[in-house]
Amino acid sequence: MVNAAEEIKSRCNIVDVVGRYVRLKRSGSNYMGLCPFHSEKTPSFSVSEKGQFFHCFGCGESGDVISFIEKIENVDFMTALRKLADMYGINLDDYGFTNESRKNRLYGMNRDAAVFFLHSLADRPNPGRDYIMGRGLSLKTIGRFGIGFAPDSWNALLNYMKSKGYEEKDLAEGGLVSYSKGRYYDKFRNRVIFPIINTRGKVIGFGGRIIGQGEPKYLNSPESAVFSKRNNLFGLNLTRDSIKERDCAIIVEGYMDMVSLFQNGVTNTAATLGTALTPDQCAMLSRYTKNIVLSYDADSAGRKAALRGIEVIRQAGLSVRVLHVPDGKDPDEFVKKHGREAFEELVENALPYVDYKLAHERSMVDLDTQNGKLGYIKGAARILSSISPAEAEIYIKKVTDETGMQEGALRAEIRRASDAGKQREPVFREPADREQDELSPVSEEDLRLQKTMIGILAKAPSTLPEVSKYESIFTDPACFRIYNTIKELIKDNNALDADTAADSMDAEDARVFLEITGSTALDCEPDLLLRDCIRGIREKELRRKNEFLHKELMLMSENDDDRITEIMGQMKKIDAEIQHLRNSAGE
Ligand code: GTP
Ligand code: MN
Repeated sequence: MVNAAEEIKSRCNIVDVVGRYVRLKRSGSNYMGLCPFHSEKTPSFSVSEKGQFFHCFGCGESGDVISFIEKIENVDFMTALRKLADMYGINLDDYGFTNESRKNRLYGMNRDAAVFFLHSLADRPNPGRDYIMGRGLSLKTIGRFGIGFAPDSWNALLNYMKSKGYEEKDLAEGGLVSYSKGRYYDKFRNRVIFPIINTRGKVIGFGGRIIGQGEPKYLNSPESAVFSKRNNLFGLNLTRDSIKERDCAIIVEGYMDMVSLFQNGVTNTAATLGTALTPDQCAMLSRYTKNIVLSYDADSAGRKAALRGIEVIRQAGLSVRVLHVPDGKDPDEFVKKHGREAFEELVENALPYVDYKLAHERSMVDLDTQNGKLGYIKGAARILSSISPAEAEIYIKKVTDETGMQEGALRAEIRRASDAGKQREPVFREPADREQDELSPVSEEDLRLQKTMIGILAKAPSTLPEVSKYESIFTDPACFRIYNTIKELIKDNNALDADTAADSMDAEDARVFLEITGSTALDCEPDLLLRDCIRGIREKELRRKNEFLHKELMLMSENDDDRITEIMGQMKKIDAEIQHLRNSAGE
């Protein structure tokens, strides 16, 4: 696939391709035209023939020929590749391109493997069957989910699949076998197998739980052409009708939680696959319901996942509540012991997310002490400054009741919090726990900016002092790591060699980095481009400031006349500054 992309980039000329959409005029060594991505009267969209990239000095869009097609046609990477291949008569299959037939081969292969696992579970006696029935699953449930067993063998599946005509390297590509020291061997051994089936009924991967104790407890299929963890939810194939009918989806962490709830009659659930809920999963769920209930473990990893999940769900425009399972149990244990009705009562009583966040703040302090109270008020103010004023009104009452604090003082604290939010630099958040860094809270636009800044730095290491002033923009974990790596190298050597830099990164970061240096081979002056980026950063800061002021305005009451006038004045000034920045762009 990478090869296909390289081949396409080497065979087509970006000037021709862009020229089909934009009227270009030669200008020095580049071509200029009116930007197709924002509206403008004077051309600030430039295409470099030498560098094979485009860049708009007005809106900041930039990229190579493939990303140009992605953006202008509003299609994904694969579709863009296909379109370009068609234009240039390139046969993508020659480059191992992920085509439908290859996907279908993987689906078929997974289906065959699932049948093998199923049959293994049916053999008697066997530890998989004993284990899973010992955990209370009925034969009916086992059949419903197609739960199977991977025997404790290095080649049981391998031999079975070979007898079905599959080749080892294809089995490895599908993640069913691993390869080491010249040998292929079964990836799943001595595990209960949960097939992961998408909503189109295709087996896309597997989750395997160790029988009894052992590490890792759960093993998932690797990502493949058909399996993307962030894009699927376990069980949704069986539960989406019920989710739609009840207009509510209960999201749990574990395979066992999902299956056990289902067996006990709670059928509007789905499980994330060892990651925090992603925007893609929210988009999927939103087709069936707008109401999400999170039911994560009460341990610190679960609480963190819930707090992150809340933000992702809210960003997706869905409503979210958080369910608390008492006594440190998980949903599986609870529903097994207390039954469906008791669990549904927990769902009824799930906390609106603001209450959950407030309760979380409260749990971290001792409200009987002055310090504890103060800490809580600060935390609460931060939460309340981020929700709509109307909503905030309700909670202001609650919090003052709880703490005996004066309402005016809390309102002042909320104003402070929104000021602080305005000034606070975006901080890099540790990717928490297992695989949570998969979740990307960074917008496309921000990501592009961060990548451009890395590209500038890689091309012109002398810009480090200037770039480092804005290093708080690196909110994407990968960009943050890449930035830090190259920063250290530049400091040590006063120069940067891209390949050396890539070698100091892990494989995925290196790939991202080389992609940046490859496509942002910006052949205009790095200084000019940097100035442009900084202008963008400033404008964004100003816009954020305005948003906070607006929020503060909404929290004002009639007798705050003076402050209201002051805020209105500030907002006007900021608007003027933004206008000024825009006018100076492209100079
Ligand atoms: P049981 O002990 O079988 O009841 O598991 P649980 O459902 O209580 O699981 P736990 O709370 O430990 O983990 C919840 C989910 O996190 C699991 O279903 C997996 O998806 C994921 N998970 C847990 N342990 C691992 C692990 O070692 N590796 C991976 N990749 N995922 C894990
Ligand atoms: Mn459990």
